[in-house]
Amino acid sequence: MYQVNDNYQKLPGSYLFSTIGKKVNAFTEANPEKSIIRLGIGDVTQPLAPAIIEALHKAVDEMANAETFRGYAPDLGYEFLRSAIAKNDYEARGCNITADEIFVSDGAKSDSGNIQEIFSVNNKIAVCDPVYPVYVDSNAMAGRTGTYDMAAEKWSNVIYMPCTRENNFVPEFPKETPDIIYLCLPNNPTGTTVTKAQLQEWVDYANKVGAVIIYDGAYEAYISEEDVAHSIYECEGAKTCAIELKSFSKNAGFTGVRLGYAVVPKELKCGEVSLHSMWARRHGTKFNGAPYIVQRAGEAVYSEAGKAQLKEQVAYYMKNAATIKNGLQDAGYEVYGGVNAPYIWLKTPEKMTSWEFFDYLLENANVVGTPGSGFGPSGEGYFRLTAFGSYENTVAALERIKAL
Ligand code: MLT
Repeated sequence: MYQVNDNYQKLPGSYLFSTIGKKVNAFTEANPEKSIIRLGIGDVTQPLAPAIIEALHKAVDEMANAETFRGYAPDLGYEFLRSAIAKNDYEARGCNITADEIFVSDGAKSDSGNIQEIFSVNNKIAVCDPVYPVYVDSNAMAGRTGTYDMAAEKWSNVIYMPCTRENNFVPEFPKETPDIIYLCLPNNPTGTTVTKAQLQEWVDYANKVGAVIIYDGAYEAYISEEDVAHSIYECEGAKTCAIELKSFSKNAGFTGVRLGYAVVPKELKCGEVSLHSMWARRHGTKFNGAPYIVQRAGEAVYSEAGKAQLKEQVAYYMKNAATIKNGLQDAGYEVYGGVNAPYIWLKTPEKMTSWEFFDYLLENANVVGTPGSGFGPSGEGYFRLTAFGSYENTVAALERIKAL
């Protein structure tokens, strides 16, 4: 008789955003007349920029001709895209990352879930609390997290680094030394971030204790403050301790198109073993590359027209972020984030739990958000709203919330 991967049985409930989706569907079925505004999952709402649409059309036409048709993509990504990434995301910022250290993928969610498999199951991970659930769940599936304590909402073999208003949402070095450290900056879900000097301290710490940092930079395009690093490789020594994951979902609206990349520097070694070679081996075996059409769309992100159009798109969402932040503040809420990230993190009023506030908002304002406790125990008493809605819906949601 075959056996299943028991680690899946240890996972509590369903994936956070699936649970929210089910709750909202049940509410909609019971109240078909209500118009719901969704500011829960961080999914974009604006159409793809014209430069990207043009690149997609052109690439589709190429696929219609024998001379320009493309089959399997190179599994590490087309050179034209990897070079554009190296030039614009790294060289332009003084980071010495070359095209052959970049691995193109179908998105940062896949990369952040998959990357753990090149590490021993005996490694101990450290995560910020609250945290994007994929990091913990994917390690739980691999059997790296021990057992789940329902009451404490924690895994026995995970180091949690609380990020709350008490420490300004900046993780502190854990008492116990971790092997793998997940950092998402600017942060999902709190919408806060750290300065470049603070990030440098993490790089120094990882190099000192022999840990690797998995750095999720999905929200980098939303950085507005000068002293915040756009890449971990702006920090000295990061090439010997960090893998960086990037997404095209939030900066270019590719949530439904799917494109991302991982940077694994050649200098990143565990003893004599190159993590770059391991990730190349893994990619070669399990991945046939992101579609040519999509990689051409990714290239257009870095064209002059693409850059200008996407700057406007990011500004559109950040106007929403300001609308939410200011609106909530006016209504007397305690609010964080929204300056370097498209997420607003608020303290729930009147000691409501995160899920109580979720129900209250859904039932009384017909607005969907994300309960902070869904991201980890230190998220209890907090709530996340996304700036990725349309401006009209964002304004309407705030009017409803203010009228409560
Ligand atoms: C979120 O809402 O946290 C994100 O949209 C999830 C994701 O990017 O996968």
